[in-house]
Amino acid sequence: MRLDPAGADQHGENRRLREAGPAALVELPGGVVVWAVTHHDTLQELLADPRIGKNPQLWSTFREGRLPEGWPLLNFISVPGMITADGADHRRLRGLVTQAFTPRRIAELAPAIEARAARLLDAVAELDGAFDLRRHFAYPLPMQVIGELLGLAEEQQDALHELSDTLVSSSATPAAAVAAQQDLFGLLAAVVEAKRSAPGDDLTTDLIAAREESDRLSEQELVGTLLLMLVAGHETTLNLITNAVRALLAHPEQLDLVLKGEVPWSAVVEETLRYDSPVGQFPLRYAVEDVRVGEVVIRRGEALLASYAAVGRDSGHYPDADRFDITRSPVRHLSLGHGPHFCLGSGLARLEAETALRQLFERFPTLRMAEGAPPEPIGSFISNSVRTLPVVVG
Ligand code: HEM
Repeated sequence: MRLDPAGADQHGENRRLREAGPAALVELPGGVVVWAVTHHDTLQELLADPRIGKNPQLWSTFREGRLPEGWPLLNFISVPGMITADGADHRRLRGLVTQAFTPRRIAELAPAIEARAARLLDAVAELDGAFDLRRHFAYPLPMQVIGELLGLAEEQQDALHELSDTLVSSSATPAAAVAAQQDLFGLLAAVVEAKRSAPGDDLTTDLIAAREESDRLSEQELVGTLLLMLVAGHETTLNLITNAVRALLAHPEQLDLVLKGEVPWSAVVEETLRYDSPVGQFPLRYAVEDVRVGEVVIRRGEALLASYAAVGRDSGHYPDADRFDITRSPVRHLSLGHGPHFCLGSGLARLEAETALRQLFERFPTLRMAEGAPPEPIGSFISNSVRTLPVVVG
């Protein structure tokens, strides 16, 4: 089966994939064939299986130079950093940034996140009652938070966001994918240079110190880590906030339960993560040796996708999986990953999303979708959301 690079109907596609078994072969752009792992229990096992790695050198197609020129996912799977590293390398790269994401550090960010969300809603209130919630609220909140953590100037953020959108697009043209990668690396390398001469109180400055004082990461890994933090730190949370608002507006009886205080905002966040995972398909992992999955064998050197959005709707694991139901408890989804690569920013993502949703609906309890055609999907199978979310206040 060919995966639609534009992700036009991810949930429909995922249903067909799940029916084909726990792991099914799919064709990616450029005729590249990989396995999609779409059953919850199978993915959970494989994410923690040491026979599955993330270094692209493990993939025979990559190692032997058989990928088409300008392959749109090439940048995504080869960024030098923790998502493409295993074992000791992975621990080294992840260890350099974990301190910034401890529960205590995240809790310290809460007042600033509250204030940012309030300011964004003040601005939205000026917009004549109708606005694109994705553009004016779901995007700037996580972008400003990660931008501040990394020490990025506000005027750099929109340009970085556009480039990062291309990086997580599976439908970018080869020329656009190559250009975005170059520009993104160029911009972030310039940020590093600027911080070298004018250090700040931020993660970029800490990473530069780790490189210069003890040579714990290469220059490419330094820029790659910034890129990863930037992309992972906002594209996903942006989708989560968008998807949660969309689901709540489509299910007013569920929204009522939260507004009456019967269900906490955290339950909305967890159920949205399961029901409409912000990450659709996560590329890629590779079999270090042959791995049997049910009736099929993933051969050594073959690649697989972690199909997070498919797994969230696996009816073999969640009763009535296609139903948005914030009263499920507990919702043990995999949408923030599992195993050694479990999302480093999960605490921050949850805090941002809960704050955003609570403030939004406290301020605009009668928010509703604008009339008109349903919002278009985002144009990628890596991301799972909509391009815009037009809403009306009152
Ligand atoms: C709703 C928001 C988010 C979702 C759904 C999400 C989801 C995920 C998932 C599924 C993975 C595992 C990828 C894999 O299969 O290997 C992951 C890893 C990661 N996430 Fe998140 N993420 C979110 C927010 C964030 C934020 C806010 C940050 C940082 C500020 C972040 C940083 C990372 C990093 C650095 C990794 C790589 C960890 C590693 O390879 O060891 N994420 N995330």
